[in-house]
Amino acid sequence: MRTWEIQSGFGLANLRLAERPDPRPGPGQVLIRVRAVSLNYRDLLMVEGKYNPKQKLPLIPCSDGAGEVVAIGEGVTRVRPGDRVCGIFAQRWIAGEPDRERLRSTLGGPLDGMLAELVALPEEGVVVVPPHLTWEEAATLPCAGVTAWSALVTHGRLTAGDTVLLQGTGGVSIIALQLAQLLGLRALITSSSDEKLERARQLGASGLINYRQKPEWSGAVRDLTGGAGVDLVVEVGGAGTLEQSLRSVRMGGTVCLIGNLAGLMAQVPLALVFMQQVRLQGILVGHREGFEAMNRAIAQHGMRPVIDRTVPFEDAPAAFELMAASGHFGKICIGLP
Ligand SMILES: NC(=O)c1ccc[n+]([C@@H]2O[C@H](COP(=O)([O-])OP(=O)(O)OC[C@H]3O[C@@H](n4cnc5c(N)ncnc54)[C@H](OP(=O)(O)O)[C@@H]3O)[C@@H](O)[C@H]2O)c1
Repeated sequence: MRTWEIQSGFGLANLRLAERPDPRPGPGQVLIRVRAVSLNYRDLLMVEGKYNPKQKLPLIPCSDGAGEVVAIGEGVTRVRPGDRVCGIFAQRWIAGEPDRERLRSTLGGPLDGMLAELVALPEEGVVVVPPHLTWEEAATLPCAGVTAWSALVTHGRLTAGDTVLLQGTGGVSIIALQLAQLLGLRALITSSSDEKLERARQLGASGLINYRQKPEWSGAVRDLTGGAGVDLVVEVGGAGTLEQSLRSVRMGGTVCLIGNLAGLMAQVPLALVFMQQVRLQGILVGHREGFEAMNRAIAQHGMRPVIDRTVPFEDAPAAFELMAASGHFGKICIGLP
C-alpha cells in the first residue's frame, strides 16, 4: 500500500510518499480502506516537529480519517465489512476521564495515523459514521468535531438559548458553529476577514467581530450580550486571546482552553477568573462515547461539516501548506481513490 511518512527528520520536505506491506487485521482488529483524511493544526505541528520533538520516525501522520471496513480479524463483533467508519483520536479512550495510558494511544503520533491507503485498528478504536455524510465530511469528525462537542456539550453542558463565543473560522470553530445551530445556541464569532464573517453569518452566526479591526473585541462581545457576556468561550487562540476571552465571558461562565494559535505562554490578570468565578476547562479532544453521542446528533439533524477543499492523496503536502497559510474556512481534506 501507499502511505505518506515523516521519514528521516521533521519538516514538510521530509513528508514522503512510501510503500509499506498491506496491513492485515489481527485478532480483534479491523482493516480500513481509507477514503478521506482531514487535517488538523496538530498534524501540521507534528510534521514540523513542534508538537512532539521526541516523536519516533518514520511516522504516518494525521489523526483523522474515514473509510470502509474491508476485512475483520478473529472475534470482531462491533463492525462488519462494508461499514463506514472513522478511527477515534485516542484509540484506548472509550469513556470517562483521560489518563496517561489512554492518551498514549493517539493516532498520527505517537501511533501511526490515517494518511495511508490501508489502516488496521482495534475494533474498539473505530466508530460507525452518520450515513448521510460523504467520506470527506466524515473525516472531519474525530478531532475537530469531537473537540467542539466536548467543549459545548460534554464539559460545557450548554443548552438551547445559551450563547457561545467562537474564535476564527478554522476547523474546530466552524464545526462548533454548526453544532451550535444544532443545539439551539446563539453563536458569536471572530475572524480576521469580513468575507469569512459573512460566510459564518450564512451558517447561523448572529454576532460577527473582526478581531483585526477590533483587537479589544471583548467590548463588542459585551455589547452583543447586553453587557452580560457569553456563557462559554471556545478558546482556540490561547495566550494572545485569553484575556479578551475572560473579559467576554459572563460571571460563572466557562472558558474552554483548546488551542494556541496565538501563543502558548499566557500572562493573565487572575482577578478576571476569581472575581467572576469563571471556570477554565482544558479540553483534549474527547472519548469515543462523546464521539458516538455527537454522531447521533449529526445524523438526527443531517448536519454536514464544512469542507474548504479536498486535495488528492498524491498532493498531500499541498494540504499542509494550505493549513499553514490559514486561508481556509472550515476543514481541509485529502481524498483517496
Ligand atoms: N485541545 C484539543 O483537543 C484540540 C483539538 C483540536 C484543535 N486544537 C487546537 O485548536 C486550535 C485550532 O485548531 P484548528 O484545527 O481549528 O486550526 P485551523 O483550522 O488551522 O484554524 C485556523 C484559523 O484560526 C483563526 N485564528 C488564528 N489566529 C487567531 C486569533 N488570534 N484569534 C482568533 N482566531 C485566530 C484564523 O481564522 P480567521 O482566518 O477567520 O481569522 C485561522 O484561519 C489549534 O491551536 C489546535 O492545535 C486543540
